[in-house]
Amino acid sequence: MGDRSMPLWFCDINGGNIDELRKMNSAIFPVRYSNQFYEDVLALPRELAQFACVGGAVIGAICCRVEPFMPGQFLSSNANGANGVQVVSLVPGRSYSQAELGAGGVLAGGFSANNNSSTAEVDPVRQRLYITTLGVMAAHRGRGVGRRLLDLMLANLQHLPDVCEVYLHVQTSNAGAIAFYERAGFHKEAIIKNYYRHIEPPDCYLLLKAVNS
Ligand SMILES: CC(C)(COP(=O)(O)OP(=O)(O)OC[C@H]1O[C@@H](n2cnc3c(N)ncnc32)[C@H](O)[C@@H]1OP(=O)(O)O)[C@@H](O)C(=O)NCCC(=O)NCCS
Repeated sequence: MGDRSMPLWFCDINGGNIDELRKMNSAIFPVRYSNQFYEDVLALPRELAQFACVGGAVIGAICCRVEPFMPGQFLSSNANGANGVQVVSLVPGRSYSQAELGAGGVLAGGFSANNNSSTAEVDPVRQRLYITTLGVMAAHRGRGVGRRLLDLMLANLQHLPDVCEVYLHVQTSNAGAIAFYERAGFHKEAIIKNYYRHIEPPDCYLLLKAVNS
């Protein structure tokens, strides 16, 4: 149960404090984000890039972007067949053994969606929200900070009524984050093999939650 009494406040991520995000991301995430990533964050509407702070210290952050909705396809899944990237749909609510999720098993028997966005049909109305990063400094985890950042973002969606789904990628080995998102109503929509290039395991889950319905 999160400590809701923690005196947490939120603030926009901007040119004056973006270095805090760089420091935090390098402490939290196994991947190194490019300068382009941080430039893109600065270009976001301010409500889509928020810090969580206690006193004068930044202890967490969430960054999201709004994307076009393409039925059955996900813009940020980078799955155009390069580098062996392969998207396999999972049945919501069904549990899969590690043997099934590894080489072979459900992957051999599943189907692979070609995520080449150039051929995808874009829905003229609906949109998706993609969570690029959500992280809390290790010393402050388990106290409701991550949930409050996520809730803040989900509450913002009342101003984005065309957003009908929220999704993100989580490394398959990141059991804590998977539990966190499932607790918040997300489900495993797909497994993406070879999504990451320089970390092990290279596979991730695509976690999805329907919103604004
Ligand atoms: C995932 C992360 C953001 C969670 O933040 P947090 O502040 O520790 O999470 P909270 O305290 O708000 O937890 C909210 C709920 O998720 C559950 N949860 C959080 N971490 C969990 C874990 N490691 N194992 C099981 N459940 C967990 C909590 O029990 C809580 O449940 P409750 O609603 O019953 O109280 C944080 O662990 C983190 O920064 N991880 C590293 C970065 C990362 O992997 N981000 C995800 C990919 S973008």
